[in-house]
Amino acid sequence: REDLVAVEQELGRDAASSVSTITEIAEYLREGGGKRIRPSLLLLAAHQLGFSGHGAIRLGAVVEMLHTATLVHDDIIDGADTRRGRPSANTTWGNEKCVLAGDWLYMQAFKIAVQERNFRILDVLMELTQQMVEGELLQMEKLGKLISHAEHLDLIYRKTACLFSVSMRVGGILGGATDQQEDRLGQYGRNLGLAFQIVDDVLDLTASESVLGKPVASDLREGKATMAVIHALERCTPAERKQIETVLHDRAFNGVTHADILTILNRYGSLDFASKEAARYAEAARQAICTFPDSEIKRALLWAPEFVVARESSCGNRSFD
Ligand code: IPE
Ligand code: IPE
Ligand code: MG
Ligand code: MG
Repeated sequence: REDLVAVEQELGRDAASSVSTITEIAEYLREGGGKRIRPSLLLLAAHQLGFSGHGAIRLGAVVEMLHTATLVHDDIIDGADTRRGRPSANTTWGNEKCVLAGDWLYMQAFKIAVQERNFRILDVLMELTQQMVEGELLQMEKLGKLISHAEHLDLIYRKTACLFSVSMRVGGILGGATDQQEDRLGQYGRNLGLAFQIVDDVLDLTASESVLGKPVASDLREGKATMAVIHALERCTPAERKQIETVLHDRAFNGVTHADILTILNRYGSLDFASKEAARYAEAARQAICTFPDSEIKRALLWAPEFVVARESSCGNRSFD
């Protein structure tokens, strides 16, 4: 908890630019809160390996800034108007300024990361940033199209699970993890991240906007087929398939309602399938760290997958700390 307070202070210092518009946007994003899952994971991994220096605070802020930068760009790309229960930055400042604010945030994150003077960590963070951009671009190319379960997993690894994995590994690297320990921490992060995104996608289909803090059924309206939808498409009748395809293709509910889609998904147990997959990845995350010595920190890491699978909203500020 004290470390997370320190991460907030670091984020506050890092949101300042000599150009006031950048500072305003960066401050707005910071104040918007968020669960701070990624810095929490980095801090837990570092502590699990016995590291408690300031580097973990700084790098916790770095992974959160990289996350924030991808969200700013993501909301522009998706034309989203709500984030964390309030207007997204692009609705207030417009796309042009927000693209630049996102670029600035990426570089600010690297500027802080360089202070560690650790090439391994920089290498891992750069590789990660490229994976996330590639994931977003691949996703864009697949919009409105039908993708396989395997293609979908690759996408959600790149856009979400990779950052979870890297947050864990960077914490481990700070603590002098062996290759094998770093690998286990990375596996934990990867599996947790996959579970997290699968749950997020199920919530997009099933939750209400007031609970979610962002528009619902947005994936369908953005032309994105997520796990439950892919599952149903592989099983449904040609007529049902046409209904789903119409929404994905039109990127709108024209003549086919959100409720119609939910009926199809329920008929094939597709939402249930996705939830069970999420639970399976959550369990794999727990298994990945089972050989680490028991501690308060390990117990927190074992609990996190439960939190991710059981969550009902995506905006609950600080619900992770
Ligand atoms: C949102 O991530 C983007 C996804 C990977 C689904 P979070 O749900 O962690 O966002 P905040 O930071 O808590 O708002
Ligand atoms: C999440 O993508 C953003 C990244 C991880 C790059 P989505 O578009 O699926 O997430 P939300 O629904 O906007 O949070
Ligand atoms: Mg989005
Ligand atoms: Mg997106």
